[in-house]
Amino acid sequence: MKEKDKMNRREFLKSTLLAGAATIVAPRLATADGTGGASPRLAEGAADAQKRDTPVGKLIGSAPVLMNPAERSVDVVFAVNGEASGWVEVSESPDMANAERVYSGNGPVMHVNGKWAVVPVRGLRPDKRYWYRVGADRIDLESGYKPWNRGSEADGSVYSFATLGAETCGSFCVIQDTHSKTETVDRVLAKIAALKPSAIVWNGDARNYYRTADDAIGTFLKPHPDHSAYAAETPVMFLNGNHDFRGRFALHLEDLVPFRDVAERGAGFAALGRNFVQRIGDVALIGLDTGEDKQDTNPRMGGIFRMAKYRKLQTRWLAGEIEKPAVRTARFKVAFCHIPLFDPDPRENPGDVMPDDDDPRYLHPWAAWQRTCANLWGPLFEKAGVSIVITGHQHRYRLDPPDAGRKWTHLVGGCDDVIEGKVVDGKLRIAVHDCIGKTTRTELEFS
Ligand SMILES: [Fe+2]
Ligand SMILES: [Fe+2]
Repeated sequence: MKEKDKMNRREFLKSTLLAGAATIVAPRLATADGTGGASPRLAEGAADAQKRDTPVGKLIGSAPVLMNPAERSVDVVFAVNGEASGWVEVSESPDMANAERVYSGNGPVMHVNGKWAVVPVRGLRPDKRYWYRVGADRIDLESGYKPWNRGSEADGSVYSFATLGAETCGSFCVIQDTHSKTETVDRVLAKIAALKPSAIVWNGDARNYYRTADDAIGTFLKPHPDHSAYAAETPVMFLNGNHDFRGRFALHLEDLVPFRDVAERGAGFAALGRNFVQRIGDVALIGLDTGEDKQDTNPRMGGIFRMAKYRKLQTRWLAGEIEKPAVRTARFKVAFCHIPLFDPDPRENPGDVMPDDDDPRYLHPWAAWQRTCANLWGPLFEKAGVSIVITGHQHRYRLDPPDAGRKWTHLVGGCDDVIEGKVVDGKLRIAVHDCIGKTTRTELEFS
């Protein structure tokens, strides 16, 4: 027998023994050779092997976070503690009758990840309530050539969510610039829990930068121990802030905070994974991404960004979206982006200083507001009849009423503000809640 063949046989025997061990203590798992039996001597060795192979601890690592809500789809994201393929069981009734299971990943193989699971749930109906629970299959990819499914673990909780749509009244809340600051996250999530909106628009700068996947997990899946299920029943619509483009893992953030279903956007706009047009009753929510707050040409940015092209592509997308029924038939239109589109102070940098953002006329060498985006999108907002544009970035509340050059109200939310929107008595009411002072800064009404 050749040396290579001997080694292959040794590997085969080793994997067969381990397979037998798994059969004794975990009957639901199949053996490699299909025999399933074991002698007492083998069983002894098997017990040792089982000690090595027994999963330790809970596999589900966080409560589920609903992301990218739409009429017919939602993404369910949660942390796992070990290589796993997450799944979601969805039912039309609270007793989970006739639940359908959906696994991680869209491709021909389950998506297996050691830290988190993203489960895309599709084929839902608009304006409808569903119930769901999450679980995961522990997948062992280390035993030779064959992946092992070590069995399912389920989170015992049953959660509920409602798909969005034009037929159901609802509300939205906006948060911005939380920067993973513990006290801020606690305050704004407590306010959202009290307000119980239909959806949360997380309007950027969720964190300063993303060095690793754990940074993103801590920000989105486990943002605060007192609010572990903050988005298990209230879905999040995430828009990038300038900081959300920074750090090694920021380049892969869509792996954990997934892009919206590409089917929403149509051909040519696949790159616009954060943009959305979504109805909540009479209100059309329009999500846009202002990108980085530095020029693509700024030497500090390493030449890796193409925000100018990205903003133009969004302009083409927006021009098409405002002609579609979801926007045209909406009584109210509200737009969101992270960087403000206006500033009354002439000393604030408008973000169009070439090539490096530095100009002695301005207070800082970075964009306090985005004149380029204002020029690209502003006329489309006017054409569509947008009532208000809600932004952040400046970490301080400000309200800019319409003026001679701008028909839409411009609102800047502070770090500890929760902006609430809902239709009451046929009017759109926007309230800015200050979560430190526990007061309402302003209440606006649009009719
Ligand atoms: Fe910020
Ligand atoms: Fe920012």
